[in-house]
Amino acid sequence: MADFSSLDRYLEQNRQGHLNELLELLRIESVSADPTKASAMSQAAIWVKNRFVQMGLECELIEGNGPSMVYAESPKVPGAPTVLVYGHYDVQPCDPLDLWKTPPFEPTIRDGNIYARGATDDKGQMLTHVQSLAAWMATSQKLPLQVKFLIEGEEEKGSEVLGHALPGLKEKLACDVIVISDSSQYGPGQPAITYGLRGIAYFELRVYGPKADLHSGSFGGAVTNPALALARLLTEMKNADGKIQLEGFYDSVKPLQESEREMWKCLDFSDEAFAKQLGVTELTGEQGFTTLERRWARPTFDVHGLMGGYQGEGGKTIIPSWAGAKISFRLVPDQDPATVAKQLQDFVSKHTPRGVTVEVIDLHGGCGVVVDPNSRFMGGARKAVEEGFGKAPVLIREGGSIPIVAEMVALLGCDVLLMGWGLDDDGAHSPNEKFCLEDYYRGIRASSRLWEYLAS
Ligand code: BES
Ligand code: ZN
Repeated sequence: MADFSSLDRYLEQNRQGHLNELLELLRIESVSADPTKASAMSQAAIWVKNRFVQMGLECELIEGNGPSMVYAESPKVPGAPTVLVYGHYDVQPCDPLDLWKTPPFEPTIRDGNIYARGATDDKGQMLTHVQSLAAWMATSQKLPLQVKFLIEGEEEKGSEVLGHALPGLKEKLACDVIVISDSSQYGPGQPAITYGLRGIAYFELRVYGPKADLHSGSFGGAVTNPALALARLLTEMKNADGKIQLEGFYDSVKPLQESEREMWKCLDFSDEAFAKQLGVTELTGEQGFTTLERRWARPTFDVHGLMGGYQGEGGKTIIPSWAGAKISFRLVPDQDPATVAKQLQDFVSKHTPRGVTVEVIDLHGGCGVVVDPNSRFMGGARKAVEEGFGKAPVLIREGGSIPIVAEMVALLGCDVLLMGWGLDDDGAHSPNEKFCLEDYYRGIRASSRLWEYLAS
């Protein structure tokens, strides 16, 4: 049995050090989508690797055609399970920059929160497991199981490098359970364990019209406007009841189980309060489902960005020669991103307005996951969260995606535990992203119990 009191003492004495390390990592501008940040990406990978070296783990950088992945492991413990901690050091782009109260890569503490890009997603959450294992090693405790880490730099853009490397890493990553902290608690003061995530299929649409921008006075009325054609295509993709119109889209969607619906009805949730939190006049979505059901267990279609035409000050009267959109579908089990790509292509072929051509560019995709909430490791995970956060976790699903998880689970034949320390209002992917500092410390404490409880 581990000596939790010496662990707790160590954690208490190292609060400042743990904070300083988080600040250091948050200062690195590791935006994976931005090709000009390549050197920051390798700086972040090396930072993570050095942290493992410093705590005495065997570790290496795994290289591929993109950002390095950091792998580390403690010695195998015969007869005991192996845990693989997965996380990511890359972050989403920071725009719009002018909406940040303090610069995204100058982490700042205000009201008990640490504000920076990547604070919650995922540098802060990921580091909790690193710090907890470091605490075990620093207090010379005998680990009851083997812990492996895989920290990658491309999660926020679809995990392509890892996806390619995965089959070759089967032995290295072999484990009984994957632990991921890259999601949220149910709410402030109510921790959760997440047993399902949605998948995603992400595309760019490009609509091409005249070979150059045209004077809309001279030519308006004679040609199809690509921006309008794009708008029509996009709005036709979802009907007024919130149903996606791609043919066959719902064929493989698993219906919600009554027991799940009942379980979620017991969670404290108010549409009014949620609308207020988001700053919208009301919540909308697919008919026949509650807000939690729509966010966690139903597919959706969204537009992330629109391109084309005049975007500057004042007016300019043109028919743009092209227009584009970044779009994605969130998927639920058993939807497959490759099938959705075909369905989208078919839809576009059938619905392209006359006078323009449309290109569909497949950017990335990943399947959703739903794991057995009664799996072998769930009891230990619950106990660890309860001790770390002072309250028993509730079981939830979430709507975000961690695209590589389904592939890892399929390849390694393991369980997965999604133990999120973030909060819904952390502003992930948004300006002024934050992570509650106490949740960082509670996460470290929960993780410090995890190694013991997963082994027993
Ligand atoms: N941390 C999120 C995943 C997440 C978000 C889980 C919300 C649970 C709730 C992750 O880093 C992320 O944002 N993933 C992307 C993946 C995409 C870019 C392929 C996502 O969900 O948009
Ligand atoms: Zn993340």
